Amino acid sequence: MSKIHQSIAELVGNTPLVELSNYEKKHDIKAHIIGKLEYLNPTGSVKDRLALALIRDAEKKGLIKKGDTLIDVTSGNTGIGLAGIGHALGYEFVPYLEPGTTVERVKIFEGYGLDVKTFYDIEEAKNFEKEGLNVDNLIKGIKRIAKEKGQFFTGQTVNEANQEFHYNTTGKEIWEDTDGNVDYFVAMGGTAGTIVGVGRYLREKNPNVKIIGVQAAPSSRPESPDFTGHIVDGTIPLAGVPEEFTPALVKSNKNNGFKYDEIIDIKAEEAYKTAQETAETDGLFLGTSAAAALTAAIQISKRPEAAGKNIVVIYPDNGYKYLSTDLYKRH
Ligand SMILES: Cc1ncc(COP(=O)(O)O)c(C=O)c1O
Repeated sequence: MSKIHQSIAELVGNTPLVELSNYEKKHDIKAHIIGKLEYLNPTGSVKDRLALALIRDAEKKGLIKKGDTLIDVTSGNTGIGLAGIGHALGYEFVPYLEPGTTVERVKIFEGYGLDVKTFYDIEEAKNFEKEGLNVDNLIKGIKRIAKEKGQFFTGQTVNEANQEFHYNTTGKEIWEDTDGNVDYFVAMGGTAGTIVGVGRYLREKNPNVKIIGVQAAPSSRPESPDFTGHIVDGTIPLAGVPEEFTPALVKSNKNNGFKYDEIIDIKAEEAYKTAQETAETDGLFLGTSAAAALTAAIQISKRPEAAGKNIVVIYPDNGYKYLSTDLYKRH
């Protein structure tokens, strides 16, 4: 039987696990740090899963049909996923870019032939710089545009299909590929679809699995007074912030088997160091959030109780979209 696929949409998921073997040897680490290479998805990030989940969910509910235009607010990866997977399945996509989107991402959108918009194109949010970003107004604005233009708002941050897809695919893959030997699961959150879906699946299989959320330390958050100018792209704080800023999927799944065992703060600059070192030891070339999650996994691996344990960490994307930042700049 031939192995020719008919669409890149068939290639979403089933990403491999790879142990950080050389780094572990170099640092005499007794735990197993195992990365899930989500950047091997067709458009280069974990967000292909979300794109496919959102499109399939809307199709199933009869909300979209081939030829329709999808719109969403995105910092990049979700939009790139919706562009690539969307085109493969017959949909157009218009991204409304968050401020600070790296130049590489904007160019990728242009490469897909998209009509790229920003928050300035949303009447309800265009004064965000002066007035602060009001997410409710932003969503109201984009919903209005969708209605006026006959487009479909995919709603990545609130759609339960996101975490369900991770439950059914990412979580299951990790469980099966480790033969059920997972002691810690480590991930950052944006929508939190990954950590909620995978966390629920693993905890159902083994209630002793530790679910570790990773977030940018305050000095790596633009709103913080001691902000250093370096962010962890695509992620938001998971805890310690006002209720309205915590991811919707974390709140909605509290009674659905999801909770963190621990949240670890990582500075962007620490993530940069990890990215640079693991590029040299193991040939990885991680994006910032992957490197930050890995930094947390490395911290856990050095605890005495972690000796011999399997720590699975998500690598959402690789470093190619961050070459205009300081991620790989050696000082
Ligand atoms: C680079 C990057 N890392 C991590 C995440 C977090 O993934 P999730 O939305 O599943 O929480 C995202 C998504 O926003 C991302 O773009």
